[in-house]
Amino acid sequence: MSDTVTSSRAITVPLAKPVMGEAEYAAVADVLRSGWVTQGPMVRRFERAVADYVGAPYAVAVSNGTAALHLALRVLDVGPDHEVVVPSLTFIATANAVRYCGATPVFADVDPNTFNIDPKSVDQACTHRTKAIVAVHQFGLPADLHRLQAVADKHACPLIEDAACALGSRYGGQRIGTHTPLACFSFHPRKIITTGEGGIVVTDDSDLAQRLCRLRNHGRDVADWQRHREAGRQRESYVELGHNYRMSDIAAAVGTVQMTRIDELIEARRRLGDRYDAAVRAHPYLSPCRWPYDAQTNRQSYAVTLRDDAPLGREALVDALRERGVAALPGLACVHHEPCYRANDLRPTLPHSERLARRMVLLPMFPEMTDAQQRRAIDGLYEAFGLPETVAVVPADQGSD
Ligand SMILES: Cc1ncc(COP(=O)(O)O)c(C=O)c1O
Repeated sequence: MSDTVTSSRAITVPLAKPVMGEAEYAAVADVLRSGWVTQGPMVRRFERAVADYVGAPYAVAVSNGTAALHLALRVLDVGPDHEVVVPSLTFIATANAVRYCGATPVFADVDPNTFNIDPKSVDQACTHRTKAIVAVHQFGLPADLHRLQAVADKHACPLIEDAACALGSRYGGQRIGTHTPLACFSFHPRKIITTGEGGIVVTDDSDLAQRLCRLRNHGRDVADWQRHREAGRQRESYVELGHNYRMSDIAAAVGTVQMTRIDELIEARRRLGDRYDAAVRAHPYLSPCRWPYDAQTNRQSYAVTLRDDAPLGREALVDALRERGVAALPGLACVHHEPCYRANDLRPTLPHSERLARRMVLLPMFPEMTDAQQRRAIDGLYEAFGLPETVAVVPADQGSD
């Protein structure tokens, strides 16, 4: 495979690393001692914490971000006769969720500067069968929701958000989670906060929230905690085909503690992101992500693209960084090129997505990254091309690695 990385040097700068501490360990221990380990009071606390933080009335926690997307599409009644417009340059879960509903993902291209779904391409991808449009906030940078909403309005279909990476990001000054009827977040360890595995759907619609609760719990009309309170006396029924997409109280306990640190976690990422920006802007062969609209990224990941005249290919750059102990990864692939998607590819050429899929590299980014670790990563970006020392954007060693 062309993406195979060959370096065997020990990695001293990992790509990502969740922040965990005594408060998380204690919260898990408390849940274990309580005897209530599946979805229960901690899940409700976690949901409240996320809803309050993003500024949405309702949040429904689930087992992972993919489940969140699947349920968001289900409550919009997406089914076999429908198409859903998604970017191809995204994690495969965005498109898979559409297929779980029996619908067809139709792939739109991305903007080469933002890496986010391009409203013009979405407009071209919409047909009379389009049931929804999914905006992905790639690497934490909000997609251009204002322009996407105009396209959604034109085609009379809802715009929803795969906000897996975007907790704490802002668009038009407001946190992601308040712009569309349904926004889906992930708590995978590479995201802003983690619950190990986990996800959540936020919404401003009480009917949608109620249905999400039912669908995550086998389609049952009575929640576990209600059932417990009523000691099983309440008659329950399964009103539609649901799933077991519940989050455990163990996971929610970790998430609830993580939510108390979210501002400092994002602040640390922003500082790192600003330094990467300065170093990458000064680099003759690399380009950073750029956006012309009013958005603030949480810096969930930091991606660069190789310019067309770069003398090194993407795999060679990743290898060169790894030779220096810096974990880098080839960036996103195009979903429509994956073997399990080729058969239902409705848009064979997406030039910007296809180019980015060949030229994007993900750099290490995590809140506890030291100055020394970031300097090693930035130096590696220059040394790999035989370039002289970079501009001094990272202070001299102020931390150990
Ligand atoms: C854009 C995007 N969508 C969806 C997902 C799926 O989230 P999860 O891994 O929690 O199922 C991810 C996670 O990696 C993602 O990056």
